[in-house]
Amino acid sequence: MTATEPRPASAAAGLGAWAYFEGAVVPVGEAKVSIATHTFNYGTAVFEGIRAYRQADGSSAILFAREHYERLLRNARLLRATVPESAADLVEITLDLLRRNAHEGDAYIRPLVYKSAPAIRVQLSGMEDRVGIFTLPLGDYLPTGGIRVTVSGWQRVSDNAIPARGKISGSYVNAAFAAEDAHAGGYDDAILLTGDGHVAEASAANLFVVRGNEIATPPLSDDVLAGITRAAILRIAADAGHDVAERRIDRSELYLADEIFLTGTGVQVAPISSVDDRPVGTGEFPTSLDIQQRYFAAVRGSDDRYASWLTPI
Ligand SMILES: Cc1ncc(COP(=O)(O)O)c(C=O)c1O
Repeated sequence: MTATEPRPASAAAGLGAWAYFEGAVVPVGEAKVSIATHTFNYGTAVFEGIRAYRQADGSSAILFAREHYERLLRNARLLRATVPESAADLVEITLDLLRRNAHEGDAYIRPLVYKSAPAIRVQLSGMEDRVGIFTLPLGDYLPTGGIRVTVSGWQRVSDNAIPARGKISGSYVNAAFAAEDAHAGGYDDAILLTGDGHVAEASAANLFVVRGNEIATPPLSDDVLAGITRAAILRIAADAGHDVAERRIDRSELYLADEIFLTGTGVQVAPISSVDDRPVGTGEFPTSLDIQQRYFAAVRGSDDRYASWLTPI
């Protein structure tokens, strides 16, 4: 099918008209699960959030397509889920979906591996596993003046409870608790701490602290998602001549940092202006903005050093 073919009438508002569901591309309105679906009842899915960016030359490309699908399939093993599609298959399916859905600007891709069996047994094996993928348009929504965050009273899910690195659907209740309370208090987002009080990450983003020439982020062992943007920023920061570190970060470092910024597929690179109403550093964030600008150059295909991060649509 081409982008000019008529869209199915059942397309939900805002979503791309076509979705990948139960092994086939279907109109998004037909991509529905039963009320008894195991994942709907127990949160037993792993998922990804991927972006496709309009490129400087007018074409479009998926950012880190293979890395996201490899992470998805790795995390599926935590749920003892097996799916027939390979990472390469899923990239091809996504390219096909994006061509059909023909979003005008940037797009967001949401793949899930979920337990599709209608079952009320609380276990993992013996359930049918499926992949679902839908897409939607998603522009840049970066606040330019820096975001206001608070340290949450909710503790980050620990590796021995629900592994944060698994990107497991059910664990996002933890993130939602923290984000909800932060929003109710007038903040843009929450920072969650580990059980022993070290900085983990924000509700849906990794965190970096800038102090002098050092740019540091918590280690993967501190209950964070192994963010794909996090890895990209470690590379960009090193290429820009910073000393990069993956090390434990104390809560008090948040109040003493020169700058702090969040990274993620959704937030991209978002400087933080205050933590718990304490201004971060001087209130300006030149390093964060420099990293942000380098990231945008990479994802929009303007920096050849990072060309391998992009898969042309
Ligand atoms: C809890 C959490 N941490 C970090 C991130 C950033 O990960 P990535 O850079 O792979 O999008 C996300 C997702 O965007 C997330 O949900």
